[in-house]
Amino acid sequence: MKIQIINGPNLNLLGTREKNIYGDKNFDEYFEKLKSKFDKFDIYYFQSNIEGELIQKIQEVGFDFDGIIINAAAYTHTSIGIGDAIRSISSPVVEVHISNTYSREEFRHKSFLSAHVKGVILGFGLKSYDLAIESFC
Ligand code: DQA
Repeated sequence: MKIQIINGPNLNLLGTREKNIYGDKNFDEYFEKLKSKFDKFDIYYFQSNIEGELIQKIQEVGFDFDGIIINAAAYTHTSIGIGDAIRSISSPVVEVHISNTYSREEFRHKSFLSAHVKGVILGFGLKSYDLAIESFC
C-alpha cells in the first residue's frame, strides 16, 4: 500500500517554529519513526512552501497511490487550487493538522480542502499523522 504525506508551507520548520503550538519534534526524525511503526506501508514524504508544487505532487500521485495525507498548512485556509486538485484525483485523501485549528484564530476555521477529502484529523499533535495512516488500515 503506497501512502504519500504532503506537507505545506513552514512545516519544514517543525521543531523550531512556535514550539508551544507545534511541539519540539522535527518532522524528518518523526517520519523515520512513522515508517518503522507502519512498516507494512510504503510511505513517502514531500514538503514544499510553494502552492503550485503541492498541486503538482497531488496530481502526480493522485491516480496511483492508495492514500494521500495532506497538511496544506496556511494554504488550507486560502487555496481553491489545492481544493480543486484534491477533487480532481481518484486516491482517497485525509486532511490533517497538528493543532486544533478550531480553537485558534477565526481565519483558521475555514478549510478549502475539507469538503473534498475522505476525512479530517486535527489537534493531536504529530500523532494526527499516525491516526491518518491508521485510517487506511
Ligand atoms: C496547521 C494549522 C494552520 O492553520 C497553520 O497555518 C499551519 C499548520 C497545523 O498543522 O496545525 O501552518 O496546518
